Amino acid sequence: MLNFNFYRPTDFYFGRGEEKRTGEVCRKHGAKKVLLHFGGQSAVKSGLIARVEQSLTDAGVQYVSLGGVQPNPRAELVYQGIELCRKEGVDLVLAVGGGSVIDSAKAIAMGVPYEGDFWDFFMGGKVPTTALPVGCVLTIAAAGSEGSNSCVIDCVVDGIVKKKGTNFQTNVCTFSILNPELTFTLPPFQTACGACDIMCHVFERYFTNTPAVKMTDELCEGVLRTVVQMLPRVMKDPHDYEARANIMWASTLAHNNLLGVDREQDWASHRIEHELSAFYDCAHGAGLAVVCPAWMTYVYKHDVMRFAQFAVNVMGCQMDYEHPENTALSGIAALRRLWGDAGLPLNFKELGAKREDIPTLVANIGGPEHTEGHFLVLHKHDIAEILTLAADYER
Ligand code: NZQ
Ligand code: ZN
Repeated sequence: MLNFNFYRPTDFYFGRGEEKRTGEVCRKHGAKKVLLHFGGQSAVKSGLIARVEQSLTDAGVQYVSLGGVQPNPRAELVYQGIELCRKEGVDLVLAVGGGSVIDSAKAIAMGVPYEGDFWDFFMGGKVPTTALPVGCVLTIAAAGSEGSNSCVIDCVVDGIVKKKGTNFQTNVCTFSILNPELTFTLPPFQTACGACDIMCHVFERYFTNTPAVKMTDELCEGVLRTVVQMLPRVMKDPHDYEARANIMWASTLAHNNLLGVDREQDWASHRIEHELSAFYDCAHGAGLAVVCPAWMTYVYKHDVMRFAQFAVNVMGCQMDYEHPENTALSGIAALRRLWGDAGLPLNFKELGAKREDIPTLVANIGGPEHTEGHFLVLHKHDIAEILTLAADYER
């Protein structure tokens, strides 16, 4: 087990009706005027924005609104948000939505006190020393941004859409309000994408070379098993509160780094997927459903017993002691069945991606010597092979 420091000071409010406390919680954290930041239409249509506005008014917190965050959030709106916050003297950014809205809010929050271009933090190796506080009312269990120190933004650089992530302590939400009922309105596809992303956040940590990490392995397997059990329930009944609630808390636990503090983490599947969602503007979870099993198939021989452990402890496969590689492969197959049954794409065609784009995708990921991942270090030719596996997968 590695040494670690773990500090995630988010104030969480979980359960039915908790969004009604938004104004009070903003006040508690010293906000006088907030930027109410949201996405396309879902939170307006459901009446959530109106409820949050009422709660802010009741608590005497002023607000200015900026909607229109797209999935795979764009830098353009971040620039607008930074200007608006400066002009209006905003002291907290309140995101009402999913990972895209929260990440857009985080980027605005780091840009407001910074004199340069906020994109420096994504490309230029700069680290923010301060940022406005960010609070969120979460509407989709997926990205885990409500508890993570990450922020992922799309920006057009030299005519190419770059999707870049940052991991800074200043990105950690000051508060997060999680009402599982708010996810009842999610389309089945978004529900499934969310579950896939949650599981992949655990995989990026679970598949490690760090020995003697049993405590956290057990937590990883518990979170994964929970999603495996709850996903079919929410696909069948979107109003199943207990299943929604367990998935929502899994979203946070999967990515606030509790499950990764003690080990070397991988992140190759995520980095490869970010090239897909940058290029095709597909949902991040859908891209992962295609990339992650291909990554697993490519790397499992590096540590067959760890993949067999996943197959048995998470996917409920039988251990084949004579041929553990069969167990490992049956775990990957069971995972693909789970995701396929939930309506996720399982190959390039189903995702809307093209095999002939693979050289461009690989070129976009970095220079000739670029590598990804740690479980098995991947060079560009490995990434091309993983994408080819992903392209050709049979359902
Ligand atoms: O824009 P609206 O109309 O709200 O629709 C959204 C959007 O179309 C819809 N939606 C959200 N809540 C809903 C709802 N529809 C009905 N009812 C609800 N309650 O769902 C769609 C997807 O929303 P989005 O916020 O994009 O989803 P998600 O939470 O999966 O976020 C994805 C983004 O997060 C990044 C991804 O790369 C992607 O850009 N990630 C962020 C991470 C982080 N900050 O820690 C880590 C992740 O690995 C990931 O990279
Ligand atoms: Zn993710």
